Amino acid sequence: MSNRYAVILAAGQGTRMKSKLYKVLHPVCGKPMVEHVLEQVKEADMQEVITVVGHGAELVQSKLEGRSEFVLQAEQLGTAHAVMQAKDRLQNKDGITLVVCGDTPLITAETMSSLIQHHEEQQAKATILTAHEENPAGYGRIIRGEDGLVTKIVEHKDANETELAVQEVNTGTYCFDNQALFETLEKVDNDNVQGEYYLPDVIEILKNAGEAIAAYQTPSSDEALGVNDRVALSKAESLMRKRINEQQMRNGVTLIDPASTYISVDAVIGSDTVVYPGTVIEGQTVIGEECTIGPNSEIKDSKIADRTVIKQSVVHDSEIGSDVNIGPFAHIRPQSAIEDEVKIGNFVEIKKTQFGKGSKASHLSYIGDAEVGSGVNLGCGSITVNYDGQKKHLTKIEDDAFVGCNSNLIAPVTVGKGAYIAAGSTINKDVPAAALSIARARQENKEGYAQRINTKK
Ligand code: UD1
Ligand code: MG
Repeated sequence: MSNRYAVILAAGQGTRMKSKLYKVLHPVCGKPMVEHVLEQVKEADMQEVITVVGHGAELVQSKLEGRSEFVLQAEQLGTAHAVMQAKDRLQNKDGITLVVCGDTPLITAETMSSLIQHHEEQQAKATILTAHEENPAGYGRIIRGEDGLVTKIVEHKDANETELAVQEVNTGTYCFDNQALFETLEKVDNDNVQGEYYLPDVIEILKNAGEAIAAYQTPSSDEALGVNDRVALSKAESLMRKRINEQQMRNGVTLIDPASTYISVDAVIGSDTVVYPGTVIEGQTVIGEECTIGPNSEIKDSKIADRTVIKQSVVHDSEIGSDVNIGPFAHIRPQSAIEDEVKIGNFVEIKKTQFGKGSKASHLSYIGDAEVGSGVNLGCGSITVNYDGQKKHLTKIEDDAFVGCNSNLIAPVTVGKGAYIAAGSTINKDVPAAALSIARARQENKEGYAQRINTKK
């Protein structure tokens, strides 16, 4: 096997996106397009990966840091000029260079490998990954001679009527003999409608020099999708979503309505988990087996163990144990750790809280900056008063404590093991273990009051 290098083109602004965000950073299923591309390139096993950055260089670089080398294209003069920026790094190396655009997020490692294999089999100097497109508008067209071999690629804006009718398009992914690539790039000019140095022109130059050019057509034209505007972005999103959802279903996850279920590429979900419609599972989320998630729930960067049920709720950056019941309408905010067999019910907000095994907050509570032991019952309306206007303070509620309804626990405060708090209490002093604390005005009944005020009329 020859040495393999890869160049990812990611320097463009993406004018047609009409966005402040640089094109290749637009997310598809929660991940920047260029990151999808890089991950697939890495999977295709390359010795060296170089990403060409320009617009938003620092941001793009920070997203890909540690996984790619970078070269700067200070001025965006076209795709050939972009590849030229990698010349110093690659020109003297023996082997093949794969060039991929950062705006083709659906391309797979498998297809890249097939392209490379075809390139090697054909002993070509350049091999183009092509695709059949029913509506090829915007793409470069693959022009073949009478012998069926590729002679050149013509950009949409430079194409004549016959060329425009061609439905075989350039996906923007190529495999080149490394040295031939850098020698030929020197010869590319910018004499075209856009005044740019086009990478596809390398093909015609090599062909005219008598070199072998090959083409490999993608088995799925979905992979060819190049995202230049937001219409294509939404198409990429729905194709990627379909791909992810089908993979999850094949792995044993039931999606009641895949069309309204949004799962990030990196999410891992165990078998026999059922995901109901309107659910968004984002980031690096891991969900166990036999869970029920949704409907209408949002889970981000969280870890959920087995047999847990989460309905109409939001969970962010938290860990949830097994056999937990959350919702409907609960909000688990970052840095919470909910242990096994917990119940978090309607309209309960939990923030930065350790919530022990089997404990319950079944209704209408705010529990923030707290350590809740196991077997604790937090009655309806329990509130941790965690913020004094300047600092956040810790509330500790030890094992088996019982907090009556509508209690305020003014932090910092500790409720001891097995202690009881009477409903309606405002607690600002520690409660010893096993004590009953009542901190509310004593009730006084004024007998006959109604008659007295009525006689005044
Ligand atoms: C390009 C191809 C076209 C192909 C299509 C596939 C050229 C001239 N055209 O067109 O044949 O059908 O991709 O999607 O190559 N970039 C740079 N520096 C530059 C210009 C572009 O890094 O100076 C990067 C962009 O960030 C982008 C990629 O190269 O990721 C492709 O550029 P883009 O402007 O999207 O080219 P297309 O018009 O889509
Ligand atoms: Mg493009």
